[in-house]
Amino acid sequence: MLFPGTFDPFTRGHRDIARRASKLCDKLVIAVMENAAKTPLFSPEERVELIKLSLKNDDLKNVEVMAWGGLLVDLYQQLGCCASVRGIRSESDFRYESEHALANRLLFAGYDAVLLPCRDDLSLISSSMVKEVGSYGGDISKMVPAEIIDKVKEKLLKGRT
Ligand code: COA
Repeated sequence: MLFPGTFDPFTRGHRDIARRASKLCDKLVIAVMENAAKTPLFSPEERVELIKLSLKNDDLKNVEVMAWGGLLVDLYQQLGCCASVRGIRSESDFRYESEHALANRLLFAGYDAVLLPCRDDLSLISSSMVKEVGSYGGDISKMVPAEIIDKVKEKLLKGRT
């Protein structure tokens, strides 16, 4: 199964989805991708490293992390995936993900998506919120995994100078 996203940066919400999705499949590939509508703050290499650090204490043997600069469906076919997994926080996420799945199915008829409702306590977290709060020196400890707090804070504070 594929877990695609911008992950700029990876949040506790993303980690929850990764943990749960890893139990639903033989192998989960978390792929750091490009979203044409976003200009990421963290480089693809930094985002891959943050994800690996976030999961290092989980001992998830069937999870791999990589960066991919092309179309989602190309990687999906190359890896022989059965589905992509995405976290759903709200009705608007559901609409966005349904449309996204349809668009990907137009590109590759064998495409499928698994939409996992996110945990209540993580439903308000987004990468943008992490970046905004962190860039003012605010507390991001409830938003990103403990393993990456310092690295994320350092980058965000540097971005302001
Ligand atoms: N908990 C917390 N936050 C969550 C979440 C969860 N369970 N699920 C999503 N989010 C948040 C993210 O933090 C992010 O917030 P932001 O908008 O403030 O950055 C937002 O919801 C969604 O971002 P993310 O999960 O990182 O993915 P994305 O929507 O940016 O990813 C791609 C979209 C990368 C999958 C898509 O652009 C893509 O497929 N790109 C490849 C190119 C391609 O094939 N394009 C054609 C597609 S039809």
